[in-house]
Amino acid sequence: MQGEVWVSGAKNAALPSIAASLLTGEEVFLENVPHLGDVRTMLTLLERMGTEVERPDSHSLSLRAQRLTSWEAPYEMVKTMRASILVLGPLLARFGKARVSLPGGCSIGSRPIDLHLMGLERMGAQIELKEGYVEAACRRLKGNTILFDISTVTGTENLLMAACLAEGRTILENAAREPEVSDLAQLLVSMGACIEGIGSSRIVVEGVKELKGARHRIIPDRIEVGTLVVAVGITKGDVLIRGAIPEHIQILFEKLREAGMTIQMEDQAIRARMDRRPSPVNIRTLPYPGFATDMQAQVMVLASLGRGRSMIAETVFENRFMHINELMRMGAKIRVAGSNAFIQGVPRLSGAPVMATDLRASACLVLAGLAADGVTTVSRVYHLDRGYEGIEQKLSALGAKIERVSE
Ligand code: EPZ
Repeated sequence: MQGEVWVSGAKNAALPSIAASLLTGEEVFLENVPHLGDVRTMLTLLERMGTEVERPDSHSLSLRAQRLTSWEAPYEMVKTMRASILVLGPLLARFGKARVSLPGGCSIGSRPIDLHLMGLERMGAQIELKEGYVEAACRRLKGNTILFDISTVTGTENLLMAACLAEGRTILENAAREPEVSDLAQLLVSMGACIEGIGSSRIVVEGVKELKGARHRIIPDRIEVGTLVVAVGITKGDVLIRGAIPEHIQILFEKLREAGMTIQMEDQAIRARMDRRPSPVNIRTLPYPGFATDMQAQVMVLASLGRGRSMIAETVFENRFMHINELMRMGAKIRVAGSNAFIQGVPRLSGAPVMATDLRASACLVLAGLAADGVTTVSRVYHLDRGYEGIEQKLSALGAKIERVSE
């Protein structure tokens, strides 16, 4: 693949930032918002509650939650997008009540929300689980110290938003450090929140009485950047990626350099090149700044084509290897032992009809199709549309032979 491509705004930064608009009655204006299924779902949820949503241009949003008519996130919406849980903290903080459906499991793991609820209870919320819903109420949240035994991205985001309007000081210990958490914190600060320790695992928030409107630009999507760079690695390409922040994805770049890629900054863009078969890599997914679990499936394609044996350990989710069976149908040689995958690289993959099971698995199968001999048909690509804006246009513009066909 050759050429240059612009990366879109980050899904996992846009979703919490949209939820944060519930914290004020004034206008929150977001720029660089990607066109994604999950963003549309979150906007539908907020409109259903009474938030006014306008789209001044194709990648901007004007949100105003002045008078809500509902404080509920219903099951039929939450089951399609777990990130709906991000309305819980803001609703409780601003209105003192919320009724949010429990997300239920998903294909990559049980993904409980016990840490979200633990934190809100420590801040004085009464939480009841009834008929599959979280029913939460409080007069006014009170600041407290909250220790996460597991680093949780949306758990940190929910409690960070709740803490901004709580009475007194909240300390989040072992907070998630993902760039999307920091981006949300920057939005909250521009809304008038008092937050220290942004980007660190210890965040301190002094609650304020109310927050005002703000204008904020969503950070670029580091997982889209990583996916595009891996695409270059498996097709021996030379591509310029514009609009990215390299600091957000350093570990991945180190691993891809180990695999033989050349990745450098050039003319304020990331230039990624590969001219050989990848060398083996050993990877453990970890919370940021460790190797992102959202890049695990994509880098497994690179390892599948590598010269030698690679190992990839998935330590964040308990069932995030479903793409492996599909890759093996394309000729990959992978053995799974618990949370470890051992990959014996092969010179070529062969195209085949395959099925996507989740967002990043679908990206992995598209990548595999780019490198495979013959045609690969990926079904259930609605998974892909949740997290990648115009991926077939971006890849086609770089020389890929990819088209969307009706199932
Ligand atoms: C966020 O999910 C992302 N989603 C995920 O991206 C990403 O894979 C994940 O963080 C990890 O980086 C959004 O930001 C919208 P977690 P989240 O809470 O917050 C356990 C994608 O592909 N846990 O950090 O749900 C949990 O089971 C999506 O874009 C608890 O046990 O993930 C998991 O094992 C997929 N109790 C681990 O923590 C809790 O209360 C990390 O989960 C919360 C989490």
